[in-house]
Amino acid sequence: MSIAEQKKVAIDSEKIHAFLGKVVGDFGAALSSGLNYIGVKLGLYKTLAQHGPLSSQELASRTGTNERYIREWLINQAAGGYVEYDAQSQKYHLTPEQAEALTNESSPFYIAGGFYVIKAMLQAQSRIGDNFKSGQGMLWGDHDPDLFIGTERFFRPGYTAHLIGTWIPALTGVEEKLKKGAKVADVGCGHGASTLIMAKAYPNSHFVGYDSHPASIEYSRKAAKEAGLSERVSFEVVKAENIPGDKYDLIAFFDCLHDMGDPVGAMKRACDTLAADGSALIVEPMAGNTVEENFNAIGRTFSAASTLCCTPNSLAHKGPALGAVASESALREKVIAGGFKSFKRVTETPFNRIFEARR
Ligand SMILES: C[S@@+](CC[C@H](N)C(=O)[O-])C[C@H]1O[C@@H](n2cnc3c(N)ncnc32)[C@H](O)[C@@H]1O
Repeated sequence: MSIAEQKKVAIDSEKIHAFLGKVVGDFGAALSSGLNYIGVKLGLYKTLAQHGPLSSQELASRTGTNERYIREWLINQAAGGYVEYDAQSQKYHLTPEQAEALTNESSPFYIAGGFYVIKAMLQAQSRIGDNFKSGQGMLWGDHDPDLFIGTERFFRPGYTAHLIGTWIPALTGVEEKLKKGAKVADVGCGHGASTLIMAKAYPNSHFVGYDSHPASIEYSRKAAKEAGLSERVSFEVVKAENIPGDKYDLIAFFDCLHDMGDPVGAMKRACDTLAADGSALIVEPMAGNTVEENFNAIGRTFSAASTLCCTPNSLAHKGPALGAVASESALREKVIAGGFKSFKRVTETPFNRIFEARR
């Protein structure tokens, strides 16, 4: 007997067809995401953007790939609205908007890093499935390395668009200090994208990025060297709760506080090492204040990432697992427990909430 029969409820035919339609749409999106990753990795979008319109044969020749795979890939991409098809010439091209979002890595609209994140997070699917039963965690560093590349590529466009122009000016007196020459710590810096963006914008200031993941720090050091910033920018493998130094004018946490095993310890250390009139900048994913305020595309995406990555990392450290969709009040509680006197949202974007904490 079906559950509907057991519970004596009727199935509405229209509603079940609408639901199936939605699920089939999700099937297409989920499978295509793997193909979008291949499109970025093999330069298929870039080649189409530079040389389109192209036939499947032309795209295959230009990218050194097999035409049969490319032909199938192109049908999938056109069906999903990622590329355009002209039936008469049987050629494919990208609109200027598709090209900008999928191929221009320095654009604030660049979105393709997300495919690396999805590919990497889904590698952890069976381990996380087992963790649902055991309650165990999974460390950030145990994920597929494309997670670290993808995270930088996914977040950097937002930092490029907003960090210098909007977020820093929203903090109390921080922009002025950075222009004159300030001391800044970027905690949980990952690949150092935010650290380097700030260092380029404020040539009189000194920056140090801290992260507990050694491979990310190694990457950041190389990036600083390549950018010619090594004299004013350094990176160290250190946990947030143990950062060295004192009298920082600004301590920043970009998309990492909710991942941490000991967010209160991290905040305590920030409080102790900030200058008396210094500020902590805490950038967190956009999320609602209630559970139901997350029932949208952003909340769906961030809660999925949180289940596969952010929550397990905190649980691996026996932490409180704030999660990527932590409410403002849950974040405030940890920041205030760390010794800060004030915590307020100073600005936001569709993807991020930007908070300032002061001693
Ligand atoms: C989602 S990534 C964000 C990286 C970077 N801030 C960015 O925006 O691209 C979270 C980072 O926090 C780091 N992290 C997590 N817990 C940490 C801790 N207790 N101390 C230092 N870093 C930590 C991870 O290693 C990872 O690099």
